[in-house]
Amino acid sequence: MIQGPANLAFVLQACPPARIGVAPALDKSLKFAPAQFLDDKCGSGIGFPVAFAPVFAFYGLACRQRGRRGCRKQCRQQASAVAVKAGSVDSVGIIGCSGAVGQEMLKCLENCDFPTKAVKLFAKRSAGQVVESAKFGQITIEPFSLEKVQECEIVLMAVSGGFSLEWAKQIAGGPKNTVVVDNSSAWRYNDEVPLVVPEINGEKISSASLIANPNCTTAIGAMALWPLHQKYKLKKVLMSTYQAASGAGAEGMAELENGVAEWAKTGVCPKPEFFAHQLPFNVIAHIDDFQENGYTKEEMKVTWELQKIFQLSEDVKISCTAVRVPTLRAHSESITVETEQPTPPDEARELLRGAQGVKVVDEPDKKTVPITSQRYWPIQCGGGAHSGESGLWKERP
Ligand SMILES: NC(=O)c1ccc[n+]([C@@H]2O[C@H](COP(=O)([O-])OP(=O)(O)OC[C@H]3O[C@@H](n4cnc5c(N)ncnc54)[C@H](OP(=O)(O)O)[C@@H]3O)[C@@H](O)[C@H]2O)c1
Repeated sequence: MIQGPANLAFVLQACPPARIGVAPALDKSLKFAPAQFLDDKCGSGIGFPVAFAPVFAFYGLACRQRGRRGCRKQCRQQASAVAVKAGSVDSVGIIGCSGAVGQEMLKCLENCDFPTKAVKLFAKRSAGQVVESAKFGQITIEPFSLEKVQECEIVLMAVSGGFSLEWAKQIAGGPKNTVVVDNSSAWRYNDEVPLVVPEINGEKISSASLIANPNCTTAIGAMALWPLHQKYKLKKVLMSTYQAASGAGAEGMAELENGVAEWAKTGVCPKPEFFAHQLPFNVIAHIDDFQENGYTKEEMKVTWELQKIFQLSEDVKISCTAVRVPTLRAHSESITVETEQPTPPDEARELLRGAQGVKVVDEPDKKTVPITSQRYWPIQCGGGAHSGESGLWKERP
């Protein structure tokens, strides 16, 4: 056991947000089948916890609508098992169903057997198109209208922050007591709106009619940091992220793929249009706008959101460096923490092993990499170096 305040470093990988690999352009008829979910050729992945955790938040809501005591806890316990069997609502709506995130949301509802009888889909340009859902049948996409959306007990928003700012509060409530879960950043920093990762603070959904979903980078890190914080109390968090093109949406992935293809053909990468710099064969320490303090907004989101979700005091220092890397999917993070209490590495590892939605993968010969992490439900946590009073101590390479 290492005495005194200790540092623990570990590496995380997780499939990034729902905004992955789904071309925004719709076919006349979209076909979603559960098998696609695990199919390597599937053009999309699943974002846990970013896309998936909200589904369990919704599941908690479904239970709430039925007044089932203890269901939410059960839901959180079952999150990694994708077992949603109890409770039911009549209808869940997805606004922005044709977008990269919205398409993933429908897949989540299908694949986790979310307890709703029906799903209603809303979009703008895609209104009128028919989606073939393996679980919910043929669904015609409707144009957004407040009246129609409020026919749903739960509404998932996968639209722009501006749209959400205008409509989310108006949708919440109404005749069906509609609960809105918003995927944009519009409400994350509003004191009246809970920012929820179900495994961490799922109890916050119990009284809220509008719930915000955290940034992908925050959610991934939070899943591993939460058990450590509960036991050892975080003092400092230093995070470096290695974020895949998928975090920038389908356009970002296309720019990476097209850039690599063009380079293979001509030896020259096309001028970047979507990223600040050429992404193929490069890394870009610039995601979102720079703030006055020198950090980018993407980096500050981690600080702001961890503070809110964990209810951290300002004494806990958080610093993030966010870097775009030329991988298609699965963000990686390296996190070093300093804790108030001693952090025996074996104990900390056991703690993470028992954490919902976290898989410890630290065998040296089975290292986790983005390619193998994509389309994988839990976040994968590996590595682990420990620096005690006697200097740097490395647990695993
Ligand atoms: N939490 C996370 O990790 C995370 C990750 C990625 C993105 N996001 C956020 O999620 C949101 C969606 O991102 P995305 O990449 O899916 O965007 P996207 O691909 O551009 O999709 C936008 C969707 O909104 C629909 N839409 C636009 N205007 C509308 C209107 N007036 N009425 C109804 N539907 C309308 C679009 O429908 P049509 O195309 O048919 O017009 C489309 O379905 C954004 O706020 C984004 O920042 C969050």
